[in-house]
Amino acid sequence: MAKLERANFGSKLGVILATAGSAVGLGNVWRFPYMTGQNGGAVFILIYVGCVLLLGIPCMISEFIIGRHAQANTARAYRIVGGRNPLSLIGYMSVLTGFLITGYYAVVSGWCLQYIWASLLGHLDGDPAFFKDYFVQFSEDPVKPIFWTLLMLLATYLIIEHGVRDGIERASKLMMPTLFILLLVIVVAACMLPNASKGIEFLFKPDWDMINGDVFLGALGQSFYSMSIAMGCICTYASYFSKSTNLTGSAVQIGIIDSVVAILAGLMIFPAAFSVGVNPDSGPSLIFITLPNVFQQAFGNVPVVGYVISLLFYLLLSLAALTSLMSLHEVSTSFFQEEFRITRKMAALIVTVSCCVIGAFCSLSLGPSGQFMHLLGKTLFDLFDFVTGQIFLPIVGFLTCILIGWFVPHKLVRDEFTNYGTLRVTRFFHVYLFLVKYVCPICILFIFLHQLGLL
Ligand code: PFF
Repeated sequence: MAKLERANFGSKLGVILATAGSAVGLGNVWRFPYMTGQNGGAVFILIYVGCVLLLGIPCMISEFIIGRHAQANTARAYRIVGGRNPLSLIGYMSVLTGFLITGYYAVVSGWCLQYIWASLLGHLDGDPAFFKDYFVQFSEDPVKPIFWTLLMLLATYLIIEHGVRDGIERASKLMMPTLFILLLVIVVAACMLPNASKGIEFLFKPDWDMINGDVFLGALGQSFYSMSIAMGCICTYASYFSKSTNLTGSAVQIGIIDSVVAILAGLMIFPAAFSVGVNPDSGPSLIFITLPNVFQQAFGNVPVVGYVISLLFYLLLSLAALTSLMSLHEVSTSFFQEEFRITRKMAALIVTVSCCVIGAFCSLSLGPSGQFMHLLGKTLFDLFDFVTGQIFLPIVGFLTCILIGWFVPHKLVRDEFTNYGTLRVTRFFHVYLFLVKYVCPICILFIFLHQLGLL
């Protein structure tokens, strides 16, 4: 496919909002707050910000460099930049990771839609045991979660099918500001609750005794996941950047937006949770079991407000999930379109249908009818999460740093980093190269070993 025909983002704002949309997702609103809860609040946040600077931003710049230089789908981009080096084959692994994640990320995104529906109907009302039963019954149902997963994938398809500018860029320009407004509304409401200050204090007053290796490794892993590194999304979006886009400036802005959203999500959850005396460290069940209960208890005294807040919250989650899902979907869509020379519509359809199948199986594996879909002692859903998140992701991230830091000609890297010497960020080039050559691979190696329980 000739380079000139290739689509691109029409504006700087489009670049930032679309890429920030990929980064801001369930990881910010769900994973970040519960990890903060489990790892000592403010201390975790401080370390996290350090990890974004040392690991997240340099890795993001590396993917930007590969994608923008090659202006091609991720698999081809790695081949173009890596040349004959066998490491250039990890582009394929990156596409595969993005593809597999799309399927199960759509399942969790679908759960958010169910909770919007339930909030609308006023069903999210009861004691803590009710919320637990509600979630377990729903997630194990053989039909409902699949219905919502397919709906989420259909929405993604309809956006992706419209292309880069009319689909991804337009949708991001609409959804990201909406997401931000919803977030602010809930933060203000949560901070006005009685005893909210305890939650704010927990979030911002560091307890230095909490620092240990787990906190560091948890923060490193979270920064990697939250910035959508190593799944092809960042590289694919960068292939739609113009040659004048400042890669470092964009990565810094996206890192800031992503961290601010994560911290605001904490400011939405902790004050509400502390105000009703619930400890928000409940792990993955936080957003579907603990929070509906917290919102109901905290805001339920004033008629309707409890429902409205849950509705807004699940709307916010769904938007965050959808913008990330778009970027995941685009990785495979651009791959099929360019490698098999088919139309964008056809490529998007292939990806959507296959992800519907993956999503349906993942969802079924959580219920009683899915007993036969257990592998290696895990449900299919957990297996996808484990293989992609804990194995493929660190491998791709590690090898990408090695490729860029050690094998790709430094001239190519420097030219992309500095837009051929026209940017003032040139003096940071050596810092960036040092981080990518040494610091990032070592950090990723530690995350990998930690996640496998070997460290
Ligand atoms: N960064 C997203 C989040 O924080 O939820 C998750 C994600 C999306 C990871 C897309 C990777 C990705 F390619």
